[in-house]
Amino acid sequence: MKMTVLYYTRTDTTKEMAHVIAEGMQMVEGVEAKAFSIDAIDEDWVRESKCMVLGTPTYLASASGDIVNWLEGPGRTLGFAGKVGGAFATVNYLHGGGELAIRLILDHMMVYGMLTYSGGGSHGVPVIHLGPVAIKGKTDEVKETFLLYGQRMAQMTAKVFGQDALN
Ligand SMILES: Cc1cc2nc3c(=O)[nH]c(=O)nc-3n(C[C@H](O)[C@H](O)[C@H](O)COP(=O)(O)O)c2cc1C
Repeated sequence: MKMTVLYYTRTDTTKEMAHVIAEGMQMVEGVEAKAFSIDAIDEDWVRESKCMVLGTPTYLASASGDIVNWLEGPGRTLGFAGKVGGAFATVNYLHGGGELAIRLILDHMMVYGMLTYSGGGSHGVPVIHLGPVAIKGKTDEVKETFLLYGQRMAQMTAKVFGQDALN
């Protein structure tokens, strides 16, 4: 089963965490996951993916305008409806608005008919309420959380689409 992690980045923090999530997804047997910048997407891969996670740097306590423009523009052609969707953010500051950035992306995903998933706060530690957030310069501290988030997204996608879709 194919899965995609997309990101926008200026200084590579969001790219780094996108690849960690893809690595986590691939820990689930039968999953093939790839991470792409929104500027260099394998469109066929995204269309065939059952799960799409979108990552953004936090700008002014919100998602980057580049991500929003992509969602409003080129992204629209990639068949979002019916995919499992999730979002993550990177920040400079613990209280810099990362979760607001995530929430904005999840809202847009719902408008497109995606099945949004947070990573599951009720699964326990590490608790992820809306999606994971990494602080630039301290990404090592949350690497395990991002790996686990990738696994949880993949496991939920397998549950939604059925085990057969993994083969
Ligand atoms: C225009 C601009 C606005 C930003 N606003 C915020 C902010 O509101 N809160 C925050 O924590 N970090 C803010 N940052 C920092 C970035 O979110 C942070 O460095 C991010 O990890 C960069 O991601 P990247 O390395 O993938 O480009 C801002 C950065 C820029 C360039």
